[in-house]
Amino acid sequence: MVSRFFANVRNHSEIKLRILRRFLTPWAAKLGSIAKNSSGVIWYVDGFAGPGRYDDGTDGSPLIGLQMAQAIKNRDRGYQLANLFVENNLKNWKSLERLSAAFRVNGVTANNLRGKFADLIPEISEITAGSPLLLFVDPFGISPIKYQQFKTLLNREWPIDVILNFSHRAVYRLATNHPHLITEAIGSENWRREWALTDDPELRAKYVLEEFRQNMIRDGRFHNVLYYPIRPTITAAPRYYLVFASRHYDAFELWNDEIAQEEISLSAKQYSTLLLQASFLPEFDNDNRGVNLLNEISSFTTSLKGFTRRDIVRHLVEHRWGQYHTRDIKKAVGSLVESGKIKRLHVGGQGVGTDEMTPA
Ligand SMILES: C[S@@+](CC[C@H](N)C(=O)[O-])C[C@H]1O[C@@H](n2cnc3c(N)ncnc32)[C@H](O)[C@@H]1O
Repeated sequence: MVSRFFANVRNHSEIKLRILRRFLTPWAAKLGSIAKNSSGVIWYVDGFAGPGRYDDGTDGSPLIGLQMAQAIKNRDRGYQLANLFVENNLKNWKSLERLSAAFRVNGVTANNLRGKFADLIPEISEITAGSPLLLFVDPFGISPIKYQQFKTLLNREWPIDVILNFSHRAVYRLATNHPHLITEAIGSENWRREWALTDDPELRAKYVLEEFRQNMIRDGRFHNVLYYPIRPTITAAPRYYLVFASRHYDAFELWNDEIAQEEISLSAKQYSTLLLQASFLPEFDNDNRGVNLLNEISSFTTSLKGFTRRDIVRHLVEHRWGQYHTRDIKKAVGSLVESGKIKRLHVGGQGVGTDEMTPA
């Protein structure tokens, strides 16, 4: 199965790549403008890079980094996105070398390290020291993530954001005969006690993920670490979880919109498959989503004396992550102002996001 992995990009792989590509642009813009005044470099580190491109021609995660680096170079923004790819398999590593060479001649930085991600962490830390980094961790299974080594990278002094593919199916496979590999991957073994208390696979996956999350928050000094189940339909069992970690709220706002968009298309797909009424029912679902959103905003704002639209967006991103696109939250606030349920008191110079508001 593993050797056929790169034959074509499956739907569920596409999602992680889409999220990575969409996040890289605003991440690079934001961190790049900060790096301009220091090292002038931001790093994209792909810890389990693969060959760079799928056999069906789809861009793999390394090509996404290389293309972004080229686009930034062409725009001459005063900083560069440098790429660092790690790959254990010789054939894949050679493929990365070939792809990188084509970008290097245009002045893009691309380093390919051959070996195991966990063993190469000291080298990765040294190469990227002094600059922000976005780390993409996409192994087969979970055992190549060795938490004792991994945490030294999470703990770095400079900014770090992480997108990680967590295979809970690998956890199921390892739990009986190789539980120490799970412990080594997530950094502690409390999961074993809770695992024994239930046989619900979803709960078991949650215990392991939650423990991994807490370890990452502590060692990476993250604002938060959140995870999202990648699944083909809204009710299907997850294929894997994407884990997101950042020290800054802003990253969660960007990821929130990607996840909300995925959820909207999953429920639209669900309705059209079940009832073959693609045009009507997704709107019906959107109406429900809209009503829920208005209720959520009202219950948050009624207890407050004053707030801004930005406070409302942040509240929903922090407490209902991935449920509502920020574009829809802003629209909902607008309609509550129009209908007189929220009063816009002070129209300031900074724009509608920061204008003082109160409940009516
Ligand atoms: C899921 S694939 C990566 C796919 C890639 N992110 C993409 O979407 O284009 C995982 C890759 O990690 C490599 N690999 C396996 N164990 C590794 C290790 N310990 N360190 C680094 N790479 C490893 C495999 O050879 C494989 O190419």
